[in-house]
Amino acid sequence: MLKVGVIGVGSISELHIEPYKNNKKVELVAFCDVNEARVQEKGKKYEVEQLYTDYKELLKNEDIDAVSICTWNNSHADIAIAALEAGKHVLVEKPLSMTVEEAEAVQAAVEKTGKVLQVGFVRRHASNAKLLKTFIDHDDLGEIYYAKASCLRRLGNPGGWFSDSSKSGGGPLIDLGVHMIDICWYLMGKPKPVSVSGNTYNKLGNRSHVKNLSFYKAADYDPTLNDVEDLTNAMIRFENGASLLVDVSFTLQAKKDEISVKLFGDKGGAEIEPELAIVSEKHDTILNMAPQVDNLGFDFNQAFTSEINHFVDCCLEGKENIAPVQDGVEVMRMLNAVYESAKAGKEIRM
Ligand SMILES: NC(=O)c1ccc[n+]([C@@H]2O[C@H](COP(=O)([O-])OP(=O)(O)OC[C@H]3O[C@@H](n4cnc5c(N)ncnc54)[C@H](O)[C@@H]3O)[C@@H](O)[C@H]2O)c1
Repeated sequence: MLKVGVIGVGSISELHIEPYKNNKKVELVAFCDVNEARVQEKGKKYEVEQLYTDYKELLKNEDIDAVSICTWNNSHADIAIAALEAGKHVLVEKPLSMTVEEAEAVQAAVEKTGKVLQVGFVRRHASNAKLLKTFIDHDDLGEIYYAKASCLRRLGNPGGWFSDSSKSGGGPLIDLGVHMIDICWYLMGKPKPVSVSGNTYNKLGNRSHVKNLSFYKAADYDPTLNDVEDLTNAMIRFENGASLLVDVSFTLQAKKDEISVKLFGDKGGAEIEPELAIVSEKHDTILNMAPQVDNLGFDFNQAFTSEINHFVDCCLEGKENIAPVQDGVEVMRMLNAVYESAKAGKEIRM
């Protein structure tokens, strides 16, 4: 039995709490949030009795084996390090931290304590990504030399801490780009990044005046402060010659929201967003293949449940962690380099 505490019980925490509740190997024992009313409300809703407003107090509880960290980005590294040092296993939401230095400090704490730390790269756990990974592992795509990912919201700045760079570390790049870059890099076989060229734009603000369209909001939505970029694009080059092109936005004068993730190899190609498709060639003919599966797209509930169950198995049964801390550090290096390149107005060598 794994006794779990959840730190930060805002919007996304529900997608951790529900799967923990449904996992027979887990006992959900504690919640923590700096917002007392919220932690009380969630405690009542999920029948969790040990409620804290200070994560350090929660970590003193020796009954707790593992924690999910679902707080603002600016506290991920501090809480993760304190939890590891208190002997807890950690599932930390993406991004691992706000800076590379913080990410490396978390890595040092994992190495020192030997505890499990899983980074919340939830897309790796989606059924479509897992199925595609099986094809890739069997060399069906051959050498993947190009990937292209877009996550463009025309209206989707979540406000509150998301748009306050001191709490988030940045805008759509650190929030959405982290998923896009990670899933491509992971499926490409985690090649070593060597250079990055990026651009960030602050042209439209958060467009909070727009009416009649709803979008994802932070638990404490507040549109008044917005000092993050609204669009980022980047080209990342890897040591093996492969390249990745990505663009992400919180607001954009686009006709509609758009999400696409495409991978191109010398034997085949694939898409996992908006839905899984595999492309190949046989007998001088191009084949577009549609795998016959329940869900070709990204299913939030399935992916989070699979992520949580994976974490539980890593903690209890020593299963191999598919989203280890070093991947969180490497993705942080790429994100950081994009911001650095945009600021400098030139390509950054890594
Ligand atoms: N994997 C995904 O697809 C996904 C989706 C959304 C959010 N997230 C990540 O989850 C995290 C939380 O996002 P959210 O949308 O739930 O935000 P949110 O604002 O809705 O909730 C965050 C909660 O954390 C609490 N909090 C902040 N600092 C704290 C601290 N030091 N100690 C205790 N509680 C603290 C806040 O009071 C709030 O209740 C972020 O890191 C975000 O990037 C991931």
